[in-house]
Amino acid sequence: MAWVYLNGRFLPLEEACVPVTDRGFLFGDGVYEVIPAYGGRLFRWPHHLQRLQNSLDGIRLVNPLSDAQWRDMLEELLLRNRAQAGGDNDQAVYLQVTRGSAPKRDHCFPRDTVPTVYAVSNPIPPPDPAIARDGVAAVTLADSRWARCDIKAVTLLPNVLSRQQAVDAGASEAILIRDGLAIEGTSSNLFVVCDQRLCTPPKSAYMLPGITRDLVLELAARNGIACDETDIGASTLAQAGEIWITSSTREIVPVTRLDGQAVGTGAPGPLWRTMSELYRDYKAEVRAGRAH
Ligand SMILES: Cc1ncc(COP(=O)(O)O)c(C=O)c1O
Repeated sequence: MAWVYLNGRFLPLEEACVPVTDRGFLFGDGVYEVIPAYGGRLFRWPHHLQRLQNSLDGIRLVNPLSDAQWRDMLEELLLRNRAQAGGDNDQAVYLQVTRGSAPKRDHCFPRDTVPTVYAVSNPIPPPDPAIARDGVAAVTLADSRWARCDIKAVTLLPNVLSRQQAVDAGASEAILIRDGLAIEGTSSNLFVVCDQRLCTPPKSAYMLPGITRDLVLELAARNGIACDETDIGASTLAQAGEIWITSSTREIVPVTRLDGQAVGTGAPGPLWRTMSELYRDYKAEVRAGRAH
């Protein structure tokens, strides 16, 4: 049985309900985070907490819990769901905060509402060996999202529609293009290898500042791998030797086909292999309690 946390209580998933007047349901008026935990230890916790705070600030919602309350609550949730997580106890936490419920539907902020706080954790499946062998396909699509993609808002309809369009085309991700520049995936950040250099688009309001992206940059810097935060034009993307997408749950995934054409040799590239090993070693440090 999966446990969830809802507004101060732990309860079985089947029993968790929010009112139909919740502004998350009516307006998508809320934010969320996804945080992996390896061996029961929250991965990059301070970074996720800071991004949650930035998202809450972005929608002008006061953080309903202190840092310690968030951590205690999530650690208890991970413990309660330990039995369903299997031997390695690797789980992904999803947490969501909405502006709560008000009796009357009105766009402007209601007074005196209490935010709705929800969290759930699910086992992280072991990596799919087919991805390391073959990589995945992606397509490019015009970015139809709003101008505050740096807020991790639950309002994800453009991301949902674009991802479905990618899946309908036989791909697993859409790389979104705005004003001729490749920005990120529908639920991932973007890296490319061009002329032996690793590049990723710079942070902006058009992109979610990914925690995995930042870790890849850190690992690159620590290991002497040159990496530029620079604009990536759609034509550069089309000529890249390697393309990767990164996210907390998918980690670092090699894109080996873009818009039906092979990327580089059409197989996962050597720099991807190196970075995946560095990332795997970092996770092992977290499991052992020597990194966070
Ligand atoms: C739009 C978008 N970009 C990037 C990411 C990757 O962020 P992170 O590495 O923090 O999971 C996500 C994650 O869900 C996302 O939704």
